[in-house]
Amino acid sequence: MTLPPHLGIRESHLTIGGIECSSLADRFGTPLYVTDQDRIIAKYRDYHTALGSLYPKVQVLYAAKANGNLAIIKALAREGAGADVFSSGELQLALAAGIPCEKLLFNGSSKSQRDLRLAVEHDIAVSVDSLDELFQLEQVAGSMGRTARIAFRVNPALDVPTHPKIATGLATSKFGIAHNLIPSAYREALGCTHIRPAGIHCHIGSQILDLEPFRKAADVMMRIVADLAGMGIELDFIDLGGGLGIPYRHGTETAPGPAEYAAAVAPIIKKGTESLGIDPELWVEPGRSLVADSTVLLCRVNSVKKAHKNFVNVDAGFNLLVRPVMYNSYHEIVLAHGVNHIPEETYTITGPICETGDILASDRHLPRIKAGDLVAILDTGAYGFSMSSQYNSRPRCAEVLIHDGTPALMRRAETVDDLTATMRTPPWLS
Ligand code: LLP
Repeated sequence: MTLPPHLGIRESHLTIGGIECSSLADRFGTPLYVTDQDRIIAKYRDYHTALGSLYPKVQVLYAAKANGNLAIIKALAREGAGADVFSSGELQLALAAGIPCEKLLFNGSSKSQRDLRLAVEHDIAVSVDSLDELFQLEQVAGSMGRTARIAFRVNPALDVPTHPKIATGLATSKFGIAHNLIPSAYREALGCTHIRPAGIHCHIGSQILDLEPFRKAADVMMRIVADLAGMGIELDFIDLGGGLGIPYRHGTETAPGPAEYAAAVAPIIKKGTESLGIDPELWVEPGRSLVADSTVLLCRVNSVKKAHKNFVNVDAGFNLLVRPVMYNSYHEIVLAHGVNHIPEETYTITGPICETGDILASDRHLPRIKAGDLVAILDTGAYGFSMSSQYNSRPRCAEVLIHDGTPALMRRAETVDDLTATMRTPPWLS
């Protein structure tokens, strides 16, 4: 198994950011998400440098849904990152983290009036997903005496090689406006009094390991941008979305990095904009490829059971990591204090949730495991904690951030009091 540079092995013990996972588990308790901040920042810089070397004006917007911890958004904000926000909550977190409004894009296919008002109030560009939303935004902005900056979300009708639940630019998917209808949508926008077309946006899906769909999407976007230029619309930004995948299967899977991604898309945008004599900013919205491999989820083994299979029952399940259950996704699992030990058994790692499907990993060849051992689930920084739940009334676990060899809590563990804090007793039960 190959490990990324922030993970290491010291006398068979897994380390993250130079610290032994077992000492982090002893100090902070389990289950525990542990994230290496410096890894995220290195990835952000890779993106910015790679795109910036091929295109003059670049903005990397972190897709805050991947991991919404304020500390992570703050660390990225300090580097100059913007953010793709998909809800009023993410928008408020991005502002709280110090990201300037002009570096935000408010995405989403189902925004409420309250969402639209919040965007207009802060002059945040809105990715508009339908004509219905456009006309609602026109009304909202008008009622506030403001102008809303918009980008239409293009549906490029592209089949992408990824899990069907996370392909977002298919002709059949719920997102965006069909690419052939986009020029007429901008024409509608020009007819509005309180709307200013500022950009154009697409996002074709997630965990994409092939660069070809990104090239195709960039081509579609440039064709539309040319049409818009012909209509006299000059855009401030072209946003290609996120979607670059990571190699979850260490040693056997490979993935293009930010440099290869930049080399695939930036020249298409550069050539197209130069030939049109325009100079919009190039925006991208990576989530997973910035944060996924920065994080391990540490779980304690509660018990081991030989039955139909060898079950290893750990203290985290799909309440804390839903990806394996939801997308059948693969995450490497290691015995944190015996990474180099010889695999002797085939284990299925199961969580504590009251569902047969609560399986984090099936049939993994691992060193012998016993109750009390610590296992680490790798590459859990994206869509891990951010998709967690309190199912089975399990308080969510803590998150630790490491920077420069120093670990600190970035989220305390919830308690049962946190679960009941929002509950109310109806009068007839008190
Ligand atoms: N921009 C937009 C508009 C998005 O909808 C997304 C992700 C991104 C950017 C970031 O995409 P990324 O670079 O992270 O691939 N929960 C799923 C992934 C869902 C992605 C949703 N949209 C998973 O765990 O695989």
